[in-house]
Amino acid sequence: FNNLKEGSLFIANEIAAVIRQKQAEGKKCVLGLATGSSPKTVYAELVRLHKTEGLSFSNVVTFNLDEYYPIDQDALQSYNRYMREHLFNHVDIKPENIHIPNGELPKEEIKKHCADYEAMIEEAGGIDVQILGIGNNGHIGFNEPGSSRFSKTRMITLDNSTRIANSFEFPNISEVPRLAVTMGIDTILKARKIYLMAWGPMKAPVVQKAVEELVTEQIPASLLQQHNDTVYVLDEMAASELT
Ligand code: F6R
Repeated sequence: FNNLKEGSLFIANEIAAVIRQKQAEGKKCVLGLATGSSPKTVYAELVRLHKTEGLSFSNVVTFNLDEYYPIDQDALQSYNRYMREHLFNHVDIKPENIHIPNGELPKEEIKKHCADYEAMIEEAGGIDVQILGIGNNGHIGFNEPGSSRFSKTRMITLDNSTRIANSFEFPNISEVPRLAVTMGIDTILKARKIYLMAWGPMKAPVVQKAVEELVTEQIPASLLQQHNDTVYVLDEMAASELT
């Protein structure tokens, strides 16, 4: 796409079409959602479609990819708060249909929380549409380089490069959490349709590696080559190193 806006509208329209199709069939629509800077315009467009074009989220069930650990749900940097501010507070989604990894639980409860998260995705019928951003190091969700193709929802240690990339959201680098809870690569690859979005020149080198080089757990996004319905949605700059 020429720019972030056009790419974002494309993704929002694809999501809206699936929501409407499922509604017509009397079924739930299960969305896997990302945070960060990349999907903000997608969410803004979904909110616009709800407010001005009657798109209802009453049949939508969501599962977010990840959350920092530990973090208060109301902290400025919490992905739970991000989702409320960018999407959930502005549409008619049922609160009980929203799922986000909980960064407030005591550590000893996280293992069960992750297993429950996986079970809830399965009970919901699996993810229909998953949206992803990509880290400069190739991470998807918070599956950092070295994450197994078979990984499930779990607690992980954030790479230093990720902590630095995300440090602008925090007062200083030492306050960026060292841990996070993330869906696994296997969780993501089970989604029926995946859109990975990347905007701007900073993402060009990792997009090139993930799309055109060999599949390797060192570039987690390259594992999407093994998925049969993944679309990379790029602006000119993010696509500029593709051959
Ligand atoms: C966020 C997530 C991350 C981001 C990635 C890119 O939920 O899962 O993988 O998508 O770090 O972040 P931005 O979009 O801020 O460049």
